[in-house]
Amino acid sequence: MAQPLTVVIFGASGDLTSRKLIPALFNLAQKGKLPPEARVVGVARSEYTDEAFREHLKGKAKEILPGEQFSEEKWAAFAPRIHYVSTDATQPGGAKPLADWFAANEKEPNGRRLYYFSVSPYYYPPISAALAEAGLNKSDTGYRRLVIEKPFGTDRASAKKLNDELHKHWDENQLYRIDHYLGKDTVQNILVFRFANTLFEPLWNAQYIDHVQITVAEKVTVEGRGDYYDKSGVMRDMLQNHILQVLTLVAMEDPNRYTADNLRNEKMKVLSTVNVRPEAEAMKVMALGQYDGYLNVKGVDPKSKTPTYAAVKLDLDNRRWHGVPFYLRSGKGLKARYSEVMIQFKCPARLMFPLPANEMLQCNRLKMVIQPNESIQLNFQTKVPDVDGVSLRPHNLTFDYKQAYQNQTLPEAYERLLLDSIQGDASLFMRADEIERAWEIMDPLIAAADHAPTQPEKYAIGSNGPSSADKLLDCWQPIG
Ligand code: BG6
Repeated sequence: MAQPLTVVIFGASGDLTSRKLIPALFNLAQKGKLPPEARVVGVARSEYTDEAFREHLKGKAKEILPGEQFSEEKWAAFAPRIHYVSTDATQPGGAKPLADWFAANEKEPNGRRLYYFSVSPYYYPPISAALAEAGLNKSDTGYRRLVIEKPFGTDRASAKKLNDELHKHWDENQLYRIDHYLGKDTVQNILVFRFANTLFEPLWNAQYIDHVQITVAEKVTVEGRGDYYDKSGVMRDMLQNHILQVLTLVAMEDPNRYTADNLRNEKMKVLSTVNVRPEAEAMKVMALGQYDGYLNVKGVDPKSKTPTYAAVKLDLDNRRWHGVPFYLRSGKGLKARYSEVMIQFKCPARLMFPLPANEMLQCNRLKMVIQPNESIQLNFQTKVPDVDGVSLRPHNLTFDYKQAYQNQTLPEAYERLLLDSIQGDASLFMRADEIERAWEIMDPLIAAADHAPTQPEKYAIGSNGPSSADKLLDCWQPIG
């Protein structure tokens, strides 16, 4: 008999559940990846019957999943696996109804349980305590795991406090802290590209690389999230987590084996080598912006200094990266939705071809486009065909995901992350020490932004961001 497997989602009536988690589980089921014995239990305060909860989820799934992925028949086959328990799990005794549900519905022994916290971070400690109080954190031969959404703390001190709270009831190896960027195939491909090929790794160092740019640009504005965003800003929302995680993959050494611990040890080493800039120096390595109209967003303080755009220069102090700046930037309300890693190689030591006056050689660039139009582009010089002289023009050698994998769609990050947490592979989840160190890097920069005497530079919605970013680096890759 199969060992029972239950995915319990706290915050089940919320947006993340209906927009991401249920569609991801549904897709996993269609791909035959969700174990047939897997069931989903939604937990929230709202009153739903199982049937009403399924109907609510169905409406959203229909809206979200592309036509060919959703059908009434597929949903009808999936829906009976979904159940609902109404309780306030943030209160002492609040996990009792869930324990009762397991007692009534989990007949076979040794059930495996994945608890997913899709709630406001404020509720992580009380729910974790309520689960422990009901004995639901104790493993027998079936595991007990906790999947925790971001944001994980708002600075190092609060992240450490949260880790300490969780560690009271859970071992570190039971904790799966989500960074959905790590769930993106194109982000995972950074490691494959670097370590499953011979060509690039010998050049992947300070001897050949001039600098690295990591961009996560968004077209969307803050929209209905003013309350959350104004306390967070782009550095907490994007840089401390997603962008620093991408940086670790670009900069790390290859782990001796592809296991969660080895991988995370190497990522942690990268974070440890980042020079933490004190607050007093932060403005020398940072440019901030706020899009026009941000101050009118509901939930935003009309005098807010919260940046919606940040560009930051970081240095990694190890032999591989000594003297190679990493420029990170992210913003909302920009020209395009566009995420990429760009490696700018150094120019040839000497060029024998004459260049026209005032023209600089565009030296080799490698772009790993994370989204959209996922691709890898290697830019190099070519000779323009001509009978007379030699003139140069850069061109791209391009690998395009959609062209190369015409019958495979890129999976949603949550599919990957849910499946990994079900299977117990924590490689793509952040460990306690990584999170705390990432905050240590960002804290002084965030403090400098908070304590800045003036508001961040304004930029127009639909632009490239504030012009002060160009003072940090004058050769940013165009956005989009
Ligand atoms: C989230 C941030 O973590 O990532 C959002 O809170 C942001 O503000 C989102 O829009 C971006 O994710 P993606 O996958 O759309 O690039």
